[in-house]
Amino acid sequence: MNVIRFSDLCAQDQVSGKRVFIRADLNVPQDDAGRITEDTRIRASIPCIQMALDAGAAVMVTSHLGRPTEGAFKPADSLAPIAERLAELMGRVVPLVANWVDGVSVQPGELVLLENCRVNPGEKKNDEALAKKMAALCDIFVHDAFGTAHRAEASTYGIAQFAKVACAGPLLAAEMDAITQALANPRRPLVAIVAGSKVSTKLTILKSLASKVDQLIVGGGIANTFMLAAGLKIGKSLAEADLLDDAKDVIAAMKARGAAVPIPTDVVTAKTFAADAVATVKAATEVDDDDLILDIGPQTAAALAMQLKAAGTIVWNGPVGVFEFAAFENGTKTIARAIAESSAFSIAGGGDTLAAIAKYGIEEQLGYISTGGGAFLEVLEGKTLPAFEILTRRAAG
Ligand code: 3PG
Repeated sequence: MNVIRFSDLCAQDQVSGKRVFIRADLNVPQDDAGRITEDTRIRASIPCIQMALDAGAAVMVTSHLGRPTEGAFKPADSLAPIAERLAELMGRVVPLVANWVDGVSVQPGELVLLENCRVNPGEKKNDEALAKKMAALCDIFVHDAFGTAHRAEASTYGIAQFAKVACAGPLLAAEMDAITQALANPRRPLVAIVAGSKVSTKLTILKSLASKVDQLIVGGGIANTFMLAAGLKIGKSLAEADLLDDAKDVIAAMKARGAAVPIPTDVVTAKTFAADAVATVKAATEVDDDDLILDIGPQTAAALAMQLKAAGTIVWNGPVGVFEFAAFENGTKTIARAIAESSAFSIAGGGDTLAAIAKYGIEEQLGYISTGGGAFLEVLEGKTLPAFEILTRRAAG
């Protein structure tokens, strides 16, 4: 990757006394009371912040949180819970600064968190005037927000165009290296699990993986559409009937290469979508008209687990059932354990996937856990993300 690396600037003593602006992705899930429910992204952002502080910089960090309305800040948009968690994890005070676009007071050795950058008017559209103001706040812009690397916004792209120096932070660089290396020359068989509610949101990744992987395991609502495409009934389960031909194309493309999309042979159904709904295991050929498929069945889970254990490389994005409900978690739990027990190099990403990994405590047994959701998928698709495009251009001078 031909970008300037922040670690190199630090090693070359080019950071001491400088104003460093770090764009991190601290967009973490919160419960209804605003409490952080999963903090992987915060923990993963600390090495870059610490690197800047150790190098003697005056450090500004910002992130988006959610998708707020620009110019209409609400308390729920605030990074206050993030500042608090960052302070706890780093063992130092982390002041939160609001209305920061026109100037930030920060001294070398100090760290400030700049309030949700997505409330600034012009952020999403990558407004040039806003980007120039942000660039003027710093000597060095560090892009370390891998989770937002697929967005070209003022704090991720425009600022990188106009800052005196624009470079990649250690998280951004490590993510890109890990994902591209895993797919460049993977140990085979290469198995991908792509699950989620809709085929439409993951169609390009499904098509792209269909030309690369040996097994393409689909789950969740995506599997329902594939079951329909395979001629099975799915009752009133979530599916996208208008994408049946695309699903058939993916199945055909895999088959033509001697690869496969395993279709569930059994499923777990319910009559309602609820944690206390009665769960019924049945053959995939026996789904009733009023059934909702909420998980893969034990026979399917066991067969997939065997394939995962025999894999050389595993790419995992998405739980295969409603794992938040105990009665419908068996498929995801079985798959998670199989990935953990497999000797394959495994790489996982996506918000729900991180939650499943945390729930089953398998963090240590995975090869690499990405902090990206959409960005992770776009790298897997082989796309050049805006972050890398602009940082490469800046490195070229
Ligand atoms: C994510 O959670 O995938 C990133 O933080 C990007 O968020 P966005 O989809 O709202 O741009």
